[in-house]
Amino acid sequence: MTFPLYVFDAYGTLFDVHSAVARHRDLVGPQAERLSELWRTKQLEYSWTRTLMGAWRDFEAITEDALDFAAARCGGIPTETRAALLNAYETLDAYPDVAPALKALREKGAKTVILSNGGSAALARAVASAGLRDLLDDSLSAASVGRYKTARQVYELVGARYGVAPDKVSFQSSNRWDVAGAVGFGFHAVWINRTGAPDEYPDLAPDRSVASLAEL
Ligand code: LAC
Repeated sequence: MTFPLYVFDAYGTLFDVHSAVARHRDLVGPQAERLSELWRTKQLEYSWTRTLMGAWRDFEAITEDALDFAAARCGGIPTETRAALLNAYETLDAYPDVAPALKALREKGAKTVILSNGGSAALARAVASAGLRDLLDDSLSAASVGRYKTARQVYELVGARYGVAPDKVSFQSSNRWDVAGAVGFGFHAVWINRTGAPDEYPDLAPDRSVASLAEL
């Protein structure tokens, strides 16, 4: 089945959030993996707590907050390493399956759109540095509603922009919690489970779970 509109989560789905630390593994040292995991976990935690509290702070700022906590937990990092990691976060690697999948969808006449917690400027930089600018129609940012996923207002941005009912949209995310939010909202959803993670949110199941965007 082909949908008119394919909406993609950005961080973790198109862009490999762990590629920032991976690029500077030597600077970070033996705690690299732990730091990267903790950085991502805290970033997401802050997005949920701040949405629940109604205390908005930009995704790029909470990404810095999360790095500072993770670094402190891992024994601290030098200022230059912190700067190098934040710089790398602005130009994350895209997963190798991303460009061919987007290209194939566009060749079928579908629109490809990002819906992300990230700010518009950060998303534009990430898309450009990963060489995806010609393969995406648009990027919609949670910043415009001052709430993070899984707030419904974020998923509503798609209908507000394109005037389509949720059941005409296929939403792709590697984040199972984001898939749950999208399913609860009424999108068709595909879980991109590249790591073979166990399933969660059994009452909010996606249409399909795949190991790669190539299976779209
Ligand atoms: C995003 C978060 C989930 O891109 O990483 O929206």
